[in-house]
Amino acid sequence: MPNPSLLILPGDGIGPEVMAEVRRIIDWFGGKRGLVFDVSEDLVGGCAYDAHGTPLHDDTMARAQEVDAVLLGAVGGPKYDDLDFSVKPERGLLRLRKEMDLFSNLRPAQCFDALADFSSLKRDVVAGLDIMIVRELTSGVYFGEPRGIFKEGNERVGINTQRYTESEIARVARSAFELAMKRDRKLCSMEKANVMESGILWRDVVTEVSRDYPEVELSHMYADAGAMQLTRWPKQFDVIVTDNLFGDLLSDLAAMLTGSLGMLPSASLGAPMANGRPKALYEPVHGSAPDIAGQGKANPIACILSFAMALRYSFDQGAEAARLEAAVERVLADGLRTADLMGPEGGTPVSTSGMGDAILGALDASL
Ligand code: IPM
Ligand code: MG
Repeated sequence: MPNPSLLILPGDGIGPEVMAEVRRIIDWFGGKRGLVFDVSEDLVGGCAYDAHGTPLHDDTMARAQEVDAVLLGAVGGPKYDDLDFSVKPERGLLRLRKEMDLFSNLRPAQCFDALADFSSLKRDVVAGLDIMIVRELTSGVYFGEPRGIFKEGNERVGINTQRYTESEIARVARSAFELAMKRDRKLCSMEKANVMESGILWRDVVTEVSRDYPEVELSHMYADAGAMQLTRWPKQFDVIVTDNLFGDLLSDLAAMLTGSLGMLPSASLGAPMANGRPKALYEPVHGSAPDIAGQGKANPIACILSFAMALRYSFDQGAEAARLEAAVERVLADGLRTADLMGPEGGTPVSTSGMGDAILGALDASL
């Protein structure tokens, strides 16, 4: 059996520096756990534009389709703000999601005990929080046609289209029910069925799919009320399933509950490949943070936890994923803090690579 293959796309801003820490973790699993990956690296986003005039070269796209999993850092930066929309760094990421057909985006929001005081919400609201947002990732208003800026009489009109087919809703709903079955068996579906036809269809189809999962308790909420409930009492939720745009908003909101956007990983999964593994891309929820890039200030944890998700969802290594997650929890409990995690209660300040060192140390200690 060949080693499983990983394509690493560090991207822009803090992407390369957080990914450098992930590479050390990958090497650790190779050396100490016999989990050897065949790793290749390539460009995405602004750096790909600089090199090739496109945010994702066709060769990179083709490689992403072949590997067992893609790990991505972050894309974008002010340098690229004035580029034409079609070659903006974000288009590289959106192309990967669309062409790999990664319809199910898992965004866990877990509050580590050591960081519970760090959230902008009160400790008892967030301590022990462990929810999973499943965001539809390949359709909806992100991709619907018609779209564009058109001339209508003597003014311009900007158009985007929210469009969902039954099968698109059903497949992401199914993946959310499957996850709920492995967790607390509670699923809340969020849409705006009060104002959008696509929301009515969403609610109908999710309800239909629920017949195959009688053990899962399904509820429905309007997405605006869902945002309110997420800040009021987030622990009422287990799994949330929602569309592309609402999922984008709600997952940023959920991220902040945990104290810092620098903590949250994500997995974007598609249909199974010939070898049974799902098409998969793993990336931190945070962006490229150009303001702190290159200064050793970035928190590598979201990217490291994204690799833990790869171990779990692509490589069936749940125990090794848990080992890595426990190592992260250990260093946080020991008080190590990158700049984004420095709260009033203090802690030991560490750089990006200092955090990597500590997590590697905790991994060693786990053997
Ligand atoms: C995310 C990001 C992306 C999105 C951007 C970078 C295109 O905000 O992954 O949440 O809007 O999906
Ligand atoms: Mg977002």
